[in-house]
Amino acid sequence: MHSTKLVVVGLGHVGRSVVTVAMTSGLYSEIAVIDARDGRARGESLDHAQSTGVPGTTHTHIHEGTYDDVLDADIIICAAGTSITPNPDRPDYVPPRSLLAQEGARAARDLMANITERTHEPVIIFITNPLDAVVHVASTEFDYPASKILGTGTMLDSARLRWIIAQELDIDPTSITGYMMGEHGSTAVPILSTLNVQGMRWADLERWSGKPLPSRDDIAQRVVDSAYDVFFAKGWTDAGVARSAHLLAKTILLNERSVHPVCSRLDNEYGLGDISMSIPAVLGAEGIIRRLPPVIDAWEQEKMEESAASIRSVYAATITTEES
Ligand SMILES: NC(=O)c1ccc[n+]([C@@H]2O[C@H](COP(=O)([O-])OP(=O)(O)OC[C@H]3O[C@@H](n4cnc5c(N)ncnc54)[C@H](O)[C@@H]3O)[C@@H](O)[C@H]2O)c1
Repeated sequence: MHSTKLVVVGLGHVGRSVVTVAMTSGLYSEIAVIDARDGRARGESLDHAQSTGVPGTTHTHIHEGTYDDVLDADIIICAAGTSITPNPDRPDYVPPRSLLAQEGARAARDLMANITERTHEPVIIFITNPLDAVVHVASTEFDYPASKILGTGTMLDSARLRWIIAQELDIDPTSITGYMMGEHGSTAVPILSTLNVQGMRWADLERWSGKPLPSRDDIAQRVVDSAYDVFFAKGWTDAGVARSAHLLAKTILLNERSVHPVCSRLDNEYGLGDISMSIPAVLGAEGIIRRLPPVIDAWEQEKMEESAASIRSVYAATITTEES
């Protein structure tokens, strides 16, 4: 009998949300939780363990973990790092992701060192920011199967894109097939050339809706702004990315071969080498089965190159800050 095991590393706002979604999913027989801060993993696991007494709850064995728990894990989700909270003295200040580079890279290196000395089996899903730089650190500095290192990437940006367009069209966001590619964050690129609702493409949707739809630049900006609407109101974001990480874990665990825009180390797609960023990929038991780069137009290619430049400058900060 094969039991299913998840390890969650980092139990801040995001990691706790990941654990809650995983506990309610009924997918796992065992969940081990790890955090650098004393008491956090014990408290979080005890709280959830006690909740399994609620009638109707799937009996998942949740407990405080150590890195030895990765030995028989199927999936590891990493939300370790730190969040930047809004500054009440500078209410409009939008902190750049590069500020997270040092802490995020350190957490990724710590995690990867601990995993690689024990196993090369589980699929590792990163949430930690700056996401693309963190995935690149993990996939270039450690001997681990490339297909088994990925990041939630533009899953969250894509969810926001669908939500924004759904509001414009007054339809359910899940009726929209479409995604953002590139960097998770301020330079993510809306791929409207392939976006559709049951096959109805962008230009047809505009005709159907009877009103002009926003330009692609407007949409790209609205996706970025939507994150900061949450950040400034709540102090952090967690709901969308926790669901995204869970969906990826489920796809991998059930070997579904579903296609999602995830971050992985590219193999010169769109002429972009030595970089990790998001494009759609087929996912199954081994992680990334293959990437599925759509044909994109000139505007999208230009934006992908700008996005790559942004990722590279943030990635450079993971090197310089570690050495300085
Ligand atoms: N990819 C996305 O779409 C997305 C969305 C939201 C947040 N994030 C990122 O997720 C990360 C977590 O955000 P948060 O709001 O939960 O932060 P947080 O500060 O609330 O929690 C981070 C947790 O990680 C722990 N930690 C730090 N280093 C660790 C290590 N080496 N090993 C184990 N635990 C460690 C800390 O003790 C803390 O409990 C951040 O990097 C944030 O930017 C990503």
